[in-house]
Amino acid sequence: MTIRKYILLIIILTASCEKTNIEKCDDSQSLYLFSNFPIGVAIDMNELNNDNQYYEIAINQFNSVTPENIFKPSFLHPNENYFDWLEADKLVEFCQINNKRLHGHTLIWHNQLPDWIINFQGNQSEWDLMFKEHIQTICMHFKGKIKSWDVVNEAFNDNGTLRNTIWKQKIGSSYIEKAFMYAHEADPDALLFYNDCDIALNETKRKAILSLLNNLRQRGVSIHGIGMQMHISIVHPENKQIAAALKEISDNGFKIHLSEIDISVNPLSKEIEPSIELFERQANKLAAITLLYKEIPSRYQYGITFWGLSDKNTWIRNYFNRDDYPLLFDDNYDPKPVYCKFKDIL
Ligand code: G3I
Repeated sequence: MTIRKYILLIIILTASCEKTNIEKCDDSQSLYLFSNFPIGVAIDMNELNNDNQYYEIAINQFNSVTPENIFKPSFLHPNENYFDWLEADKLVEFCQINNKRLHGHTLIWHNQLPDWIINFQGNQSEWDLMFKEHIQTICMHFKGKIKSWDVVNEAFNDNGTLRNTIWKQKIGSSYIEKAFMYAHEADPDALLFYNDCDIALNETKRKAILSLLNNLRQRGVSIHGIGMQMHISIVHPENKQIAAALKEISDNGFKIHLSEIDISVNPLSKEIEPSIELFERQANKLAAITLLYKEIPSRYQYGITFWGLSDKNTWIRNYFNRDDYPLLFDDNYDPKPVYCKFKDIL
């Protein structure tokens, strides 16, 4: 090889390394030790059962846990007269042994319902009874083992009206109020949350949610907080929109759980490389959110939960069928710039 060719090769190799050779940082200490509020992760039970590296990082880095799927009705309540507690109880035990807070997700949603609920035949009061038994059997089973629940998930449309879910159709708009009442009756010590997406991005939706929850609370219904899911991107929502949402919700006296954070670096589904530039923008976005979150009164800081542990575990790749890298750890479980900056900002 001539000298010229050799130099050219070095230049090419250096340039291509810059794209993918992302600087690592020290993750030998637990993230949660740097924080005054809990740092959580959505747990995929298959990974926890089968992948040692996943298991170790879950234990070492986080002090709050949300089940990503196994507490949803299709898993917990697959048949009308049968609840399947096996995997859920394993997660409870994991949390107890390792001293993790457990946040239940989710009692009432329109997705991931078992067929028997979708096909349930009955009049309004029979639906109400089935709904009540579903909520209360689950809440009682986990009483004393679970700190909090997403009682109702994603009940609003983008235009601020109530989503026409099967629950609304069969029970009426009061299903939200009833869900909170039934959950509180079954486990009076559990903290109860309403959880939804786009709460920062969509002011109309946020105001509709706050209006309903304030109204219910004035009538004595126990509602302790709001889960802002935060499936966001490096572009949207803007930081000022996030600041406005955090201020408005805490001013209204609700705890705020940033309950399902992931930060897409590829919201437009393009062909991308996981570059340093994208990862730095991602790190800056999480840093900005964290600084804003630290500004709300600590009594309203329920914690920040990431919706998955590593990029390889994200729901986004399957759901949108796109290349994306939205979480703290990369596909090899190495900490990304977003992890390092987050730890510094905490
Ligand atoms: O359990 C079945 C399995 O039996 C089957 O072999 C396999 C084949 O695809 O599917 C498995 O079910 C999948 C389930 O996750 C468990 O892995 C579903 O197909 C899949 O659609 C489901 O996706 C979940 C999604 O909710 C459902 O809407 C994601 O993992 C989960 O991250 C996502 O989480 C939601 C929150 O609950 C609410 N907020 C939005 C968030 C993202 O969509």
